[in-house]
Amino acid sequence: MMLLPILIHPDPRLKKLCSPFETVDDDVRALGNAMLASMYDAPGVGLAAPQVGQLKRLFVMDCADKEEDPEPMVLVNPTVVWSSEEESTHEEGCLSIPGQYEDVTRPSEVKVSFWDLGGKEREEHFTGLWSRCAQHEIDHLNGVLFIDYLSRMKKSMITKKMQKLKKERAKA
Ligand code: NI
Repeated sequence: MMLLPILIHPDPRLKKLCSPFETVDDDVRALGNAMLASMYDAPGVGLAAPQVGQLKRLFVMDCADKEEDPEPMVLVNPTVVWSSEEESTHEEGCLSIPGQYEDVTRPSEVKVSFWDLGGKEREEHFTGLWSRCAQHEIDHLNGVLFIDYLSRMKKSMITKKMQKLKKERAKA
């Protein structure tokens, strides 16, 4: 399985509104599977298509406990159809913002409708880490990063660190 390079913030492709798929075909399945492999390799619990340079509405995630069997999910054209009034605050990170972790407050639970890789329409009720991850990844499809929820000062500090990291990586 070919691994896809993951874009690092700041990158204009991480700030774009992504467009929906019209159908689920072999190309979509190949993208979903390559993204899952890249996510596990990173390693991470979620990865959205714009993070690999595809400005389309698709993300993958697996928030299963490390001791349990993997539960890979690919969600095509995901939409939040319900979110709880109750909120929770938890540390988040992002494969496009490596090494940075900050608290973000979000609805505790969400219901998400999407197509699976068979093209079947589904709805899932997510709680806990799955809910947080789904919301973080759907944000990516709208050009929103978790650092957009932080203070302007914190966000600019993290952005400067990432610019430095990108320069170092380009030299290596
Ligand atoms: Ni992310």
